Amino acid sequence: MIKPDAVESGYIGPILAKISSAGFKIVAMKFTQLSRRDAREFYAIHKGRPFFDELIQFMTRGPIVSAILEKDNAVEDFRALIGATNPQEAAEGTIRKLYAKDIGENAVHGSDSDENAGIEGAFHFSGREIYT
Ligand code: CMP
Repeated sequence: MIKPDAVESGYIGPILAKISSAGFKIVAMKFTQLSRRDAREFYAIHKGRPFFDELIQFMTRGPIVSAILEKDNAVEDFRALIGATNPQEAAEGTIRKLYAKDIGENAVHGSDSDENAGIEGAFHFSGREIYT
């Protein structure tokens, strides 16, 4: 996902360009706004964390871009491309270092495992919306 902060700041194009030059193939993509219910479901694993309410407020305040990306070693390589959750700790040249504001408003989300990539892909897209 490209999160509301990055969409608001006009970074959809630059972020997609970085993703594309890093060799990821886009097999599904859409521009939507999450409802509170959507965001609470997507981030259910973080329920009870001190930042949960702030995260839901942030993720629902404006549109996002969600996408399914394909590449060998995609999960690990995408996490390297986006950088650490906290942009202050993210490596130079990473998407979060370039475009994120802080640990909460951190521009992008990437799945942390192949299993979660499957779950999160199915959260955002129906089978017909995925190019195979
Ligand atoms: P993401 O990789 O999408 O996964 C969980 C999200 O919660 C994270 O990016 C941030 O947007 C947010 N988050 C994680 N840690 C914190 C924190 N300490 N304070 C505020 N938001 C956080």
